[in-house]
Amino acid sequence: MRGNCVGRRLVDGATPRGGERKCVDSAPRYPAKWPPVTSSELWTRATADRYDAEEKEMSSAAVLTPTLAFLAELAGKGRALEFAIGTGRVGVPLRERGVPVAGIELSEHMSAVLRRKVDEDTLPVVIGDMATTVVPGEFTLVYLLYNTITNLLTQDEQVECFRNAARHLGPGGRFVIELGVPPLRFLPPGQVAVPFDVSDQHLGFDTFDLVEQILVSHHFTREGDHYRRDDSRHRYAWPAELDLMARIAGLELERRVADWDGAPFTQDSVKHISVWRKPT
Ligand SMILES: C[S@@+](CC[C@H](N)C(=O)[O-])C[C@H]1O[C@@H](n2cnc3c(N)ncnc32)[C@H](O)[C@@H]1O
Repeated sequence: MRGNCVGRRLVDGATPRGGERKCVDSAPRYPAKWPPVTSSELWTRATADRYDAEEKEMSSAAVLTPTLAFLAELAGKGRALEFAIGTGRVGVPLRERGVPVAGIELSEHMSAVLRRKVDEDTLPVVIGDMATTVVPGEFTLVYLLYNTITNLLTQDEQVECFRNAARHLGPGGRFVIELGVPPLRFLPPGQVAVPFDVSDQHLGFDTFDLVEQILVSHHFTREGDHYRRDDSRHRYAWPAELDLMARIAGLELERRVADWDGAPFTQDSVKHISVWRKPT
């Protein structure tokens, strides 16, 4: 996927591991077959230290200005919670705009980079899994950007992520997801890979397990006279499946657009920004 590529998630070949669940409010209830640990791959220190430099385009004013305007309007006078806040690419400037922001983040390394930009009182972050971690208080907006719902590798966990978003919202509050449309139209019969970036600095392509709905992003990034290789796994989902997850969580689809400027979502859209609302 080009531009909004799932593939910018670099994990240095990290293997799935148990994320620490941290509940600082009340303990959430899990279905009986709930996995005891998250399936998400853990983002390493090396990945965290490179993230901001490698995400220059995604951190540019051209991307952030409409993103922040969209999110700030939905937050209104309330508080916003970012799932998988990372290094604060969006959370930090949203806080600077005057929106009180809190975050949940699995990787202490990503959170440590954020902490170099803003202190805990100004932007609190709880280390934990976005599908299960509960932070105190009520929010008008929960948001999850840059394809990150796909880092949860099972349908159960993605459903639980929606339920966790709903749990944090007050009546009328919104859950926003930014996600690429699975690029399966670009996978002709007989082919195994879809390239999403072929540039001087970086070669990226996705391979697919169409039965398990798992996509692997492969990256070759030029570093001097050699290429660094990174792979990351993602569970892709169509917008309709997300709508069903939202309904399971008690949320209603309010709006789906193709970009942060509000372009209509069509069958040719490569990504969507979806807004679900908690009924009043
Ligand atoms: C593509 S980055 C996005 C970071 C930030 N939201 C942004 O837009 O720049 C994905 C982030 O998701 C985090 N992550 C992955 N799985 C997670 C989980 N289950 N719970 C919380 N964070 C998770 C990673 O550690 C990483 O910081």
